[in-house]
Amino acid sequence: PKIFILNGPNLNLLGEREPEIYGPTTLEEIRQWCEADARELGLEIDFRQSNFEGEIIEAIHAARKQAAGIIINPAAYTFTSIAILDALKMFDGPKIELHLSNVHKREEIYHKSLVSRTATAVMAGFGALGYRLALRAMAEMTR
Ligand code: DQA
Repeated sequence: PKIFILNGPNLNLLGEREPEIYGPTTLEEIRQWCEADARELGLEIDFRQSNFEGEIIEAIHAARKQAAGIIINPAAYTFTSIAILDALKMFDGPKIELHLSNVHKREEIYHKSLVSRTATAVMAGFGALGYRLALRAMAEMTR
């Protein structure tokens, strides 16, 4: 099965972006881990990042035809995008909402996720490791 791993705004700067919160690992390193894990798990992945809301929405539309599951770190759009929520509602397979940081420990603006209203499961606070854990969970969920 194919899993889409979608990353929202500013995540292209992981490694240099507030490393005390998001850690030292770059998104490219995370992508390489995911590729290696996917091979072991017998999964195929499509790993994407965009700073544009519409592009993320179109990726979710593409996932409807191509993916068995979605792992999404919508970044700041988590808290603002009804459009991403609505797109995810049309995806029938398992969807994991993922955050590197424990958003609940942080400022109030990071507490009210819109995406959680449709997510199958939510993961936060595992740092870059969260991507690997989510992929492992997805292997079970799409079996
Ligand atoms: C994030 C948490 C969000 O609150 C923030 O806006 C991000 C990254 C995370 O992975 O921890 O951009 O989704």
